[in-house]
Amino acid sequence: MKQILMTGVGAYLPEKILTNEELSTFLETSDDWIKQRTGIISRRKAHQEELTSDLAVNAANEALKCSKVSIADIDCIILATTTPDYTFPSTATIVQQKLGANNAFAFDVQAVCAGFVYALSVANGLMSTGQCRNTLVIGAETFTKLLDWNDRSTCVLFGDGAGAVVLQAEDSENGYGIIANTLHSDGRYKDLLYVDGGVSTTGTIGYVKMRGRDVFRHAVEKLASAMDEVLELANLTSDDIDWLVPHQANIRIINAMQKKLNLPDNKVIKTVSAHANTSAASIPLALASGVESGKIKPGHLLALEAIGGGLTWGASLVRYGRPG
Ligand code: UT7
Repeated sequence: MKQILMTGVGAYLPEKILTNEELSTFLETSDDWIKQRTGIISRRKAHQEELTSDLAVNAANEALKCSKVSIADIDCIILATTTPDYTFPSTATIVQQKLGANNAFAFDVQAVCAGFVYALSVANGLMSTGQCRNTLVIGAETFTKLLDWNDRSTCVLFGDGAGAVVLQAEDSENGYGIIANTLHSDGRYKDLLYVDGGVSTTGTIGYVKMRGRDVFRHAVEKLASAMDEVLELANLTSDDIDWLVPHQANIRIINAMQKKLNLPDNKVIKTVSAHANTSAASIPLALASGVESGKIKPGHLLALEAIGGGLTWGASLVRYGRPG
């Protein structure tokens, strides 16, 4: 089996910052309520003409720079998104064209907020069996385009952005790279978090609908058990984790996971205050923030976890960077 190293990360956020204060000018909400219940202070919002593929390309270019891999060497692009540019072709192929990644095959993965851990796991499978050697895994969303701006229970929670990682297959055994993954879904929980439109139902795009309290309950329970599973698969314990890089939906969920894993503050990447919930982009955005700030260093053991509509959920353990 090959080792699948994570050799670069990159991020991109749209320019427009939308604060809680600004939301409270047209919604019955307050900075206090949003901060206390979610930890969110602001989020980014893409312009109407700014596409998910544009955000993805910017993040991918940063990840390529970080890993020093050239675009000609990328042979696979996997894009996790719930907010594609078009119904088809996949946004991944649009990103491929915009990057000029002519030696790659490209496809989208749809697992909503769990999309990045799903994409990472799919990439790991393809790369381990030698179907590709240098993969761009991207999480990119223009989630604010799916929101009903009259629904205070959902529209204050989400933001736009993109994050990307470069994965490289190596034949040597060095303990770096993707160590373990676990994925789950349970379609019986569809009505807890979904969009009420689509091609074969209403023929419209629809809006996000969520039973927040129920999703919260499932999140705490399912993320904890997914994390137990990957640690067991890897024969490691939470003491071995250098950084928890969780999906950034709600600071209370992140804090619950931190407590469950018994991790101090200086081992958890928290970006929810400035990014809000960016769905599939949230983990790679948090990863990029951790690397850029110098917190995450080569050799660090990263624990990633996410849950989203479906319900879908999963977790991964990755030793970041390359040895030496
Ligand atoms: O990424 C996918 C995974 N998604 C998640 O993990 C989200 C999980 N859920 C959550 O993060 C939380 O459940 C929310 C942040 C969505 C909601 O927080 P909560 O503490 O569960 O509040 P709640 O839904 O129980 O609502 C409490 C009250 C309600 O009023 P009543 O019924 O008590 O009178 C809501 O109507 O807060 C009200 N409310 C608001 N008030 C001010 C709901 N949204 C707002 C708002 N501003 N924006």
